[in-house]
Amino acid sequence: MIKLTANPSEKYLDKALEALDVLANENGPGNDFLGWKKLPTETPESLFEECDEVVANWKNLGVEVVVAIGIGGSYLGAKATIEALSHNFEAYMPAKGPRVVFAGHNLSEDYHAELLEYLEGKSVAAVVISKSGTTTEPALAFRIIKSYIEAKYGKEGARERIVAVTDAARGALKTMSNDEGYKTFVIPDDVGGRFSVLTPVGLIPIALAGYDIRALVKGAAAMAAKCYERNHDNIAVRYAAIRNEYYDGGKSIELLVNYNPKLHSISEWWKQLYGESEGKDGKGIFPASATFTTDLHSLGQYVQDGQRILFETMFSVEKTNKSLTIGSDAQNLDGLNYLTGKHLEYCNQMAEAGSRLSHMDGGVPCISLSMEKIDEYNLGELFYFFEVGCGVSAYMLGVNPFDQPGVEGYKKNMFALLGKPGFEAQGEELRKRL
Ligand code: PA5
Repeated sequence: MIKLTANPSEKYLDKALEALDVLANENGPGNDFLGWKKLPTETPESLFEECDEVVANWKNLGVEVVVAIGIGGSYLGAKATIEALSHNFEAYMPAKGPRVVFAGHNLSEDYHAELLEYLEGKSVAAVVISKSGTTTEPALAFRIIKSYIEAKYGKEGARERIVAVTDAARGALKTMSNDEGYKTFVIPDDVGGRFSVLTPVGLIPIALAGYDIRALVKGAAAMAAKCYERNHDNIAVRYAAIRNEYYDGGKSIELLVNYNPKLHSISEWWKQLYGESEGKDGKGIFPASATFTTDLHSLGQYVQDGQRILFETMFSVEKTNKSLTIGSDAQNLDGLNYLTGKHLEYCNQMAEAGSRLSHMDGGVPCISLSMEKIDEYNLGELFYFFEVGCGVSAYMLGVNPFDQPGVEGYKKNMFALLGKPGFEAQGEELRKRL
């Protein structure tokens, strides 16, 4: 269960309800990209079964490592979910099933060369995920991994070990999958990358990592049943209202703070969702994130005392999955015996309460967001809550939440500098400026 504590004014709550109407009635800008709304309630059982089939096939092949290739919306949701659900020291523990590792989300030569080193001697498969099927980073990574898999298992073997998630008809990845005979999953046309975690984009890697995708979708469905209610208690409405109220009051940066390192990539997913959806037309709250208490020892000073442009959303988890209490020490040289018998999480909670009060005293307003515990169901609720909150908030701001015109700029320059055919003149101009 997701809870939110924030106190927006009636004026902003009413504005948020108007924006919710636009989202619910599907008559706002970008309304041809609203397919994500119905994913939790309309995902057919056959899709789950298809995912199960890939998991079972690769189990039979003895796959030890799955390379999930994608970037942005084609990567962050799966990464966030797997990281949240995995053991903190997963990478150093004996594997219980295939490990999912990620590629194609950067262009680092070291990263990809070291990935190949890591794959050596292991049974490998790959999921390549790209809606457009033309994004440079995953396309390059896939070229590298495809050639590695083909060299190891032959063309026929590669066909059993490569799955593509892409558009139903368009793009180089779709063409290649048809030609090579790869199993493919479709990203629906009306679902944008950053809203695609509940499509095969997220579901396949999450299932392969051994997690319960039905529970994830069920959690999202539970949130979908609440998130469109037209009242001031609706938490998506409250979140959108308070964000816009703070923004209009001069707070242009939202810091999403968690108190559990497993939630680091949830923040990365959230940053993409809100950054790409709202940052346009010279407007938008800049989404930033921190993991406390770690970052209280780095960013804490700025938050407490720097420029007063921040508000915080403190995101906590009510119940831990593990238990650890603090023991007594006969000598008490560290002076910590006053905490004997307390759970470590109690200290974490007091750190959260203390930092919230202190930051508020320092002029940083705080929203409290909590999740009952870290599991698939709660994560599904969380994703859907943030998605609806994002649509409502962006409509309040007066922007189209579902396009991303700004991400094309760097790509054109990169193509020109790389010498891609068709970009020669631009390349010449750019090189003069380097
Ligand atoms: O949200 C988005 O649309 C982007 O972040 C895309 O997901 C990202 O650029 C990857 O695109 P594609 O899936 O087409 O490779």
